[in-house]
Amino acid sequence: MEQRLVFDPEILRRYDVSGPRYTSYPTAPQFHEGLDDRAYAEAAQSTNGAEPARPLSLYVHVPFCDTVCFYCACNKVVTGNYQRAQRYLHYLEREAELQGELFDWDRRVGQLHFGGGTPTYLGDEDLRRVMEILGRHFRLDDSDAREFSIEIDPRAVRPGTIPLLGELGFNRISLGVQDFDPDVQRAVNRIQPFEVTAKAVEQARANGFESTNFDLIYGLPLQTVETYTRTLERALELRPERLAIYNYAHLPQMFKTQRQIREADLPDAAEKLAILETTIKRLTDAGYVYIGMDHFALPDDELAEAQRAGTLQRNFQGYSTRAEYDLVALGPTAIGKVGATYSQNLRELDAYYARLDAGRLPVFRGLALSADDRLRRDVISELMCHSRVDFAAIEARHGIVFGEVFGDALRRLQGMEADGLVRIARGRLDVLPRGRLLLRNVAMAFDAYLATEGQQRYSKVV
Ligand SMILES: C[S@@+](CC[C@H](N)C(=O)[O-])C[C@H]1O[C@@H](n2cnc3c(N)ncnc32)[C@H](O)[C@@H]1O
Ligand code: SF4
Repeated sequence: MEQRLVFDPEILRRYDVSGPRYTSYPTAPQFHEGLDDRAYAEAAQSTNGAEPARPLSLYVHVPFCDTVCFYCACNKVVTGNYQRAQRYLHYLEREAELQGELFDWDRRVGQLHFGGGTPTYLGDEDLRRVMEILGRHFRLDDSDAREFSIEIDPRAVRPGTIPLLGELGFNRISLGVQDFDPDVQRAVNRIQPFEVTAKAVEQARANGFESTNFDLIYGLPLQTVETYTRTLERALELRPERLAIYNYAHLPQMFKTQRQIREADLPDAAEKLAILETTIKRLTDAGYVYIGMDHFALPDDELAEAQRAGTLQRNFQGYSTRAEYDLVALGPTAIGKVGATYSQNLRELDAYYARLDAGRLPVFRGLALSADDRLRRDVISELMCHSRVDFAAIEARHGIVFGEVFGDALRRLQGMEADGLVRIARGRLDVLPRGRLLLRNVAMAFDAYLATEGQQRYSKVV
């Protein structure tokens, strides 16, 4: 499989259209209210009874943050009132109880992810309590094979938090860093001295965490190639196993706090492209491989290994292993993937609570995948995760003739083929090193919904 990457600015400029990031296919705009809590419960129960029992993956969305970072586009609630978190925990417990009833006890939770917002907004005792709640309603894997991960804001941990998380079974950690430059940090209202991040990394390593990820963003105010190079050097001093380098999505119409960012301070398109080029060169020189869609990893990290083994999956958290697990989602806005369905929880806390008060699961929309959706999901997932599609393997899994179903899609890729971005030959589609930053453009050729939906709501490639 192709893990190399070639940066070609002229090609990137030419292909810089808006498009989905394919954390799911079909994408969230296709979800509808026809898939409600009852339909979800039925779908969930139908996944029981497999031989051997299918493991579960749990996602818990903790929406709270202490302060707001101006750039933030996450689903979050900024509050200094901790009682709001306690109220949330009360309801999370009810949700876990309702969800837990749907799944047989032989279904081990081999993968767990806490995302947000900021999961460590919860105090140490409450983090412990959440794990107790989950352990009461689900069978949490206590073996070394488990993959339990958590998103951490290094500014929001107490001295004992990371050791406690290790004790609770977490073994992967993701740190929000964004940028180490003090001026950039001030401009986005996120002051986070290098030492604070370094301390979190050190504690994670000392407490048995196997993999540390940093989130960085490029395109933030006051960033230049020079400042960003220094940020990368500082990140590399700590040598995280994984790095996510996100392109700043500036959508001030949608995210009010982004209006606090002065447009004049934002790097222009040419500077952003130059920052991306520098980043790719610096990280590959330092030994990282490009996984796809913003993600880099050291070659011996399980993400890079899973990619070489062909077992990587794309999900709502980015990339992950264990594609075969059913994903059960808890908390407001959380999205699950159970059987051949997607399901999303209510977004507003009050609505989420009201549903649980009525004794019902807070699922408000979703989608049951058709055979055609499942086929295209498989192709798009192969592209996003492994940068290739083996036609015979798809034909065997879905009982179709690839050329008959996807003749149009392959024709749509002729331009990219002529530009040396993909190769279609001998029953395979391969994304070439020059096309790897344009995975979503390749995937879009296989998306049956794009023609009807338009593309205005999506962010740009670069
Ligand atoms: C839920 S936060 C991570 C955990 C924690 N809240 C923190 O900030 O440390 C998820 C990540 O999304 C990224 N992010 C947020 N807003 C973004 C935006 N507008 N454009 C690109 N990336 C963004 C940031 O890198 C952030 O670390
Ligand atoms: S980046 Fe993280 S800490 Fe900052 S507002 Fe967003 S979710 Fe909260």
